[in-house]
Amino acid sequence: MAIKSVLKMGDPLLLRVAEPIAAHEFGSPELLALIQDMQDTMVAMNGAGIAAPQIGVSKKLTIFGGFKSARYPDAEAVPYTILCNPTLTPVNDEMADDWEGCLSVPGMRGLVPRYIKLRYQGFDEQGQPIDRTATGFHARVAQHECDHLFGVLYPMRIRDMRQFGFVDVLMPDLPAED
Ligand code: NI
Repeated sequence: MAIKSVLKMGDPLLLRVAEPIAAHEFGSPELLALIQDMQDTMVAMNGAGIAAPQIGVSKKLTIFGGFKSARYPDAEAVPYTILCNPTLTPVNDEMADDWEGCLSVPGMRGLVPRYIKLRYQGFDEQGQPIDRTATGFHARVAQHECDHLFGVLYPMRIRDMRQFGFVDVLMPDLPAED
């Protein structure tokens, strides 16, 4: 159990496509320890989710949800999820813009288009299948976190760069994050 330092945008590891979790890794002490480190780091930094590459481990593993954060006051409940080797399938073409932040892009927010409704599939830490349909903030968080496993950071998805800036300027009423 440890709080790890989070890689920041500019680090090439964040731009890499991560390696899949291999069959023999499910349920292993190494995988469970990695998940614990990610959880400790996410909680310490008040994040909505975190992906393994953000703590320097280029594997297809993300955890998200299970929080009620002052930083995301409008967030409907997102179940605590450990997701390995995910695939995302949009249910339809409908997208919506909303503000996002990222532990790897500290102090910033950007307006990001995401699919409103999608299906995500993958495996939990024991290798049990996960197959869910998510909407709204839940779907947004899943897309943001899975993007990390394919080397994509949210600023790369912003359509209008005028809608990208420092959180304390854009949203002065939000609690400080760092
Ligand atoms: Ni992020």
